[in-house]
Amino acid sequence: DEAHEKLICQECKEFLLSLPREKGWFKPYIYLYQHIWYAPAQLQALISFQKHFQAKDSDIIIASLPKSGTTWLKALTFAIVNRNRFSPSKHNHPLLISNAHELVPFFEFHDCKTNQIPDFSNLSDPRLFGTHVPCHSLPDSITMSRCRIIYICRNPLDNFVSFWFFYNKIVPPLSPKLSLEEAFERYSEGNSVLGPFWTNILGYWRQGKETPNKVLFLKYEDLKGDTKFYLKRVAEFLDCPFNLAEEGNGVIEKMIELCSFRKMKESAELNKKVKVMQKYENKDFFRKGEVGDWVNHFSPWMKEKLSKVIEEKLGGSGLSF
Ligand code: A3P
Repeated sequence: DEAHEKLICQECKEFLLSLPREKGWFKPYIYLYQHIWYAPAQLQALISFQKHFQAKDSDIIIASLPKSGTTWLKALTFAIVNRNRFSPSKHNHPLLISNAHELVPFFEFHDCKTNQIPDFSNLSDPRLFGTHVPCHSLPDSITMSRCRIIYICRNPLDNFVSFWFFYNKIVPPLSPKLSLEEAFERYSEGNSVLGPFWTNILGYWRQGKETPNKVLFLKYEDLKGDTKFYLKRVAEFLDCPFNLAEEGNGVIEKMIELCSFRKMKESAELNKKVKVMQKYENKDFFRKGEVGDWVNHFSPWMKEKLSKVIEEKLGGSGLSF
C-alpha cells in the first residue's frame, strides 16, 4: 500500500502513533479518533477539514454511514436545489453526466494534507457536500452556522451486506481478503472503518430531535417506500418546497426517475467515466438497491447477533428499523 502511504504527511504519521489502532478491512490499520475508526488518509483529510472548513449559511450537507443510500440522497438533493437551473427532464442533466459524488463532494475524501485548505471554489451556491463524519466531529463552523444537514440511515443488517459486497468489488486483487464472518464480527462490534455504526446513527438521530430545523433524519427504507413524500419533505426542509405548478407538471416524478437506481446504474454516459473520486467506477455504487436483502446472506446466528447489538445500542433511542 505504498502509494497510499505516500499521501500521509509526517505530522499526521506522528499523530497516528498516539491513537489506538485496529486491523482494517482494506488498510493494515484503522485509527480511533473522537470515538470513530478512520483509515489514515481519511483521518488526515478530516483533521484538515476540522481546522479549515468555513461553512456558509446556505451550505447543505448530506451525512450518512457509507452504504446507506448516500449516492441516491446526494442525487435527489442536487436535483431538488438545482431544478431551476437544470430541469429534471433535461437529456444532458449534470446527474446523467457526472456521478453524484463528483457533484456533491465528500469533505473527508479530498487528498488533503493536514495543513491544506480544501479547495471547493468550483462549487456554486448553495454548496452541497457529503460526509461520513459523525455529528460530534463536525467543525464549529457547521454547528454554529445556519447550514443544514440531511442524514440518511439504513437498517444495519442491509448496511452490512451492502458494505460486504462493496468491499469485495474494490479490494485490491493481491490484498489478503477478510471472510464474511470476520467482516461481520468487526462490523457488529463497532471495529470497522467509520464505526461503530451506532455512534454515527445516534448522534444525528438525537441532533435531529433536538434541532429539527438543522438536521433532517431520513431512513433509506422510508425513502424507498414513498420517495415522493420524502422528496417533498426534503424540499420543504431546504426552504424550496415544490409549488402547485411543479406538482402538476410531474416535476417530482421526473426527479425520481432521473435519480432512479436503474437510470443511474445504466446510464452509458456515467459508465464511460474512468474514475469516480479517483478510485471507483460508477457501477460500484449501484448493486441491488433493495430493502431486506440481508435475508439472502445472513445465517441465523448473524441475524441474532446483530439484532442484539441493535437492540442494545439503539433500543432506548426510539429509533427502529
Ligand atoms: P445495495 O448494496 O444494497 O444495493 P451509498 O450510496 O451510501 O454507498 O449506498 C449504496 C447502496 O445504495 C447500495 O445498496 C446501492 O445499490 C443503493 N443505491 C444506490 N443508488 C440507489 C437508488 N437510486 N435507489 C435505491 N438504492 C440505491
